[in-house]
Amino acid sequence: MRVIYPGSFDPVTNGHLDIIQRCSDRFDQVIISVLDNKRKSSVFTVDERIKLLEESTKELHNIEIDSFTGLLTDYAKKKGCSTIIRGLRAVSDFEYEMQLALINRKTYPDLETLFMVSSTGVSFLSSSLVREIASFNGEISCFVPEVVEDALKEKFKGGAR
Ligand code: COA
Repeated sequence: MRVIYPGSFDPVTNGHLDIIQRCSDRFDQVIISVLDNKRKSSVFTVDERIKLLEESTKELHNIEIDSFTGLLTDYAKKKGCSTIIRGLRAVSDFEYEMQLALINRKTYPDLETLFMVSSTGVSFLSSSLVREIASFNGEISCFVPEVVEDALKEKFKGGAR
């Protein structure tokens, strides 16, 4: 089975990699799709986010990394893939994720959203918290792969942006 794991990935963290690794173990192909959202300001460009994902998942054999703009349902149709994976870190994620899954199924009835519960060791993580710690020169090595740590240090070397 092919699945799409969409998100902003600004940047990819060990929390995302937990989901990606477990998807890679269970599905034939995992399409990691970076949302190119012109309305949301990001620290990394889409190309940089793709590169960081490529580096962070290079050990996995069944990963495709892609980007998309517009509606996720249109993208899923275009890719010929009707299964979306979303991670659930805490109950607080549930309401938004449920709304997203239901609205997506309304516009694409064949679309199925599968939820994967985050591993406890990473369930507190978010990209914005990691970005904030990095912007103040804090220790992030236990939250992100080395390649992301280096990229964040480079971004924030002149101080917080
Ligand atoms: N581990 C760690 N962090 C995680 C995580 C996990 N397993 N899963 C999500 N997160 C974090 C992200 O790091 C991000 O943190 P931040 O906000 O602090 O930066 C946050 O949770 C949101 O994550 P993300 O999965 O990237 O969600 P999103 O809300 O940015 O995007 C899409 C979700 C891409 C699925 C959704 O916005 C989308 O489909 N957009 C396209 C337009 C569309 O079709 N909209 C729906 C119809 S209206």
